[in-house]
Amino acid sequence: MSKNLICYFSGTGNSLQTAKDIAGKMPDTDLIAMTKQHISLAGYERVGFVFPCYGEGLPNIVKRCIKNLSFTENKAAYYFTVVTGGEDSGNCIPQVSRLLKKKGVVLHYGGFVKMYGNYLIMHPQPDNPKEQAMESHLAAETIADDIRVKKQAAIPQGRFLYTLMYAMVAPNFKRGARFNFKVTDACVSCGNCVRVCPVGNVVLKDGKPVFGNECELCVACIQWCPQKAIIGGKATGTSRRYHHPDISFEEICSR
Ligand SMILES: Cc1cc2nc3c(=O)[nH]c(=O)nc-3n(C[C@H](O)[C@H](O)[C@H](O)COP(=O)(O)O)c2cc1C
Ligand code: SF4
Ligand code: SF4
Repeated sequence: MSKNLICYFSGTGNSLQTAKDIAGKMPDTDLIAMTKQHISLAGYERVGFVFPCYGEGLPNIVKRCIKNLSFTENKAAYYFTVVTGGEDSGNCIPQVSRLLKKKGVVLHYGGFVKMYGNYLIMHPQPDNPKEQAMESHLAAETIADDIRVKKQAAIPQGRFLYTLMYAMVAPNFKRGARFNFKVTDACVSCGNCVRVCPVGNVVLKDGKPVFGNECELCVACIQWCPQKAIIGGKATGTSRRYHHPDISFEEICSR
């Protein structure tokens, strides 16, 4: 059995790459997607949660994953979290800390890796993702060094402004929220959007994607569509799409 476990969630590969960078410096690490049904923490020395910041707080799926985990068989492990984001980690680290505290577990370390912001519904996407990716690799590796020696970091208090912002946008991330995704005639019925959706929220009907009520707003379907055929807002028309340059489609689908 491996010594370390990283549970990750990732729509466009930034958090998956960060999880891989940390695991790369900490051999003997299992990577498990938070979408997996049964995750056992038993026997691990270090347990981490790596995921993107959404609206200055936790993606819904991250909350669900941590709430559903059983910590009873491993309360003494070293727990860490690493957040990826276009700007900052918002209140994600204190939120994880609170969730763990409710389970009787201490969060020992929280880190942040700056990545390209993938929320193309609100802003344009980069034309040279490799540049930021290089910096992010280095940041993740520095964090990995801390985690390897089980560094204890002071967990920040949540900021009121972030709490307000999260309260405003979080309802959009609720399961059952419907996003107004449209599909253009450019769709070639390849089914990639079905495969890439981490929560099985997309099906093809008559060769075209239909979206259900389980959306996490991870934007993976929009970003990975080879035809740019999924439109999630004004800005997404024919604008550039993004995914982490070192993560392949097959890799992101294996989560
Ligand atoms: C719905 C949504 C909300 C986001 N909100 C924030 C945010 O509040 N702050 C931030 O820095 N980045 C935000 N981002 C950008 C992502 O956190 C960032 O691009 C992240 O690295 C994506 O990780 P992934 O590729 O693993 O999905 C948001 C992205 C999405 C899809
Ligand atoms: S990924 Fe794009 S082209 Fe492929 S089925 Fe989905 S919408 Fe159509
Ligand atoms: S429908 Fe698209 S945005 Fe929603 S969870 Fe699936 S891949 Fe992510």
